[in-house]
Amino acid sequence: MGAIYDEIGVGYAELRRPDPRIGRQIQRALGEPRSLLNVGAGTGSYEPRPAEGGSAAGPMEVVAVEPSREMIRQRSPQAAPVVQASATALPFDDASFEASLAILTVHHWPDQTQGLTEMRRTTRGRVVILTWDPDRKSFWLDDYFPEIRELDAPVSTRFADLRDALGPIETVDVPVPHDCTDGFLGCYWRRPEAYLNERVRGAISTFSKMSHTGSGLARLRDDLASGEWDRRYGHLRSQEELDIGYRLVIAG
Ligand SMILES: C[S@@+](CC[C@H](N)C(=O)[O-])C[C@H]1O[C@@H](n2cnc3c(N)ncnc32)[C@H](O)[C@@H]1O
Repeated sequence: MGAIYDEIGVGYAELRRPDPRIGRQIQRALGEPRSLLNVGAGTGSYEPRPAEGGSAAGPMEVVAVEPSREMIRQRSPQAAPVVQASATALPFDDASFEASLAILTVHHWPDQTQGLTEMRRTTRGRVVILTWDPDRKSFWLDDYFPEIRELDAPVSTRFADLRDALGPIETVDVPVPHDCTDGFLGCYWRRPEAYLNERVRGAISTFSKMSHTGSGLARLRDDLASGEWDRRYGHLRSQEELDIGYRLVIAG
């Protein structure tokens, strides 16, 4: 259980710091529940700390679920209590929590429908998920690493499946700020040089699954050095944020 993140999760808390702008969107989507379950919680990014009495400062009760021992190890001592388990078998009674959260994790679950059904079963109110639109438009990184599309397609969460498992959903665009602090796949759209850094790529699960990055990396390095990247995509360097398909999904 959690095997991939026991390996690629080393150093996660340092390279994948929650972005405050995305955090505010998540907070708005959650509202002010009195109890919250964070599924696939990892090191605790975007997870409110339990607040005494429960208030705008945070829910009274927060519980995290995370399968990877390595990710659990990096959680702060002040973070919410964590249960080592999988989304597909949540060890809680029906309707135990007022709200639940799943941030950039559903694509890792061995059975997404089962995990989503478990979230619906254990949550009385809102279920909030951060994922990407499976029909997202291409972004320049795909030009250098076409394998991204092949790797993402089978694990992308279809919105029809979200509806089937969770009931009616609302989606909210999550544009990525140019200086986003959460190092997920699309985070460095305006800082192309970052993808040349092995540690940066190591904190992105899609890169860890790629069979060959060499030619894409060489092409990116050459295009940055020759100015070709800037000729083709340089207009992005003056943009503050970019919509590359990340979406918040809110149900219930
Ligand atoms: C990209 S990380 C996201 C972690 C955290 N939600 C965040 O925003 O930083 C994906 C997480 O999903 C977890 N995960 C993998 N398989 C899972 C499963 N079957 N059930 C729950 N979480 C799982 C991984 O261990 C990892 O912590």
